[in-house]
Amino acid sequence: MDINQLISSRYSVRDFRPEPIPDEILQEILEAGRLAPSAQNRQPWRYIVFNDPQDIRILTQKTGLIGLSNFFIKDAPVVIVACADLKKNVRINDKDYYLVDTAISFQQMMLTAWHHGIGSCWMAAFSETLLAKHLQLPDSWKIVAISPFGYPKENKTIYSKFLSAMSKSKDRQPIEQMVQYWKERN
Ligand SMILES: Cc1cc2nc3c(=O)[nH]c(=O)nc-3n(C[C@H](O)[C@H](O)[C@H](O)COP(=O)(O)O)c2cc1C
Repeated sequence: MDINQLISSRYSVRDFRPEPIPDEILQEILEAGRLAPSAQNRQPWRYIVFNDPQDIRILTQKTGLIGLSNFFIKDAPVVIVACADLKKNVRINDKDYYLVDTAISFQQMMLTAWHHGIGSCWMAAFSETLLAKHLQLPDSWKIVAISPFGYPKENKTIYSKFLSAMSKSKDRQPIEQMVQYWKERN
């Protein structure tokens, strides 16, 4: 798959087959996260990898009430919790860059996964308080996102069709709304 196909075919996967992810592929995915750029190269991201079905089932119950809409992670063979260590945060122009850094790193992992036919889904809807307690995180760590990783099922469930319809997941703004050429603005 070339980079255009990779980016245009990616979608948020919420239905997973139970096959495990081979360890060499999981390592390649994690390596893609490791190689990401970051502000002042501080690399604040920290990843907690779940690859045991029982641990994943328990994790699913610990994501908080809001996590009910994210119940689909229970079927994934791997779930990764993306965290950031604030001790490695860089603040510029009143902006904390740990979120940007960790998002770039995690997205690199997701695209590498997709290159191997492995789907994922960014998830922000969880209770950070409950989850941080379950994970026994150090005080300086923040949870940035959770994502399941696994091979997509051929047919989506009604539940996941509903979730992607709710967010109108195929809609994208027109390029003219997104881009302004300086020459045309002046
Ligand atoms: C930061 C972020 C948070 C998201 N949180 C959730 C979530 O909590 N639950 C969920 O099912 N999808 C979540 N999504 C997935 C979006 O709904 C999805 O990316 C969007 O609808 C576009 O669809 P697509 O990824 O299939 O192209 C999130 C995506 C991003 C980037």
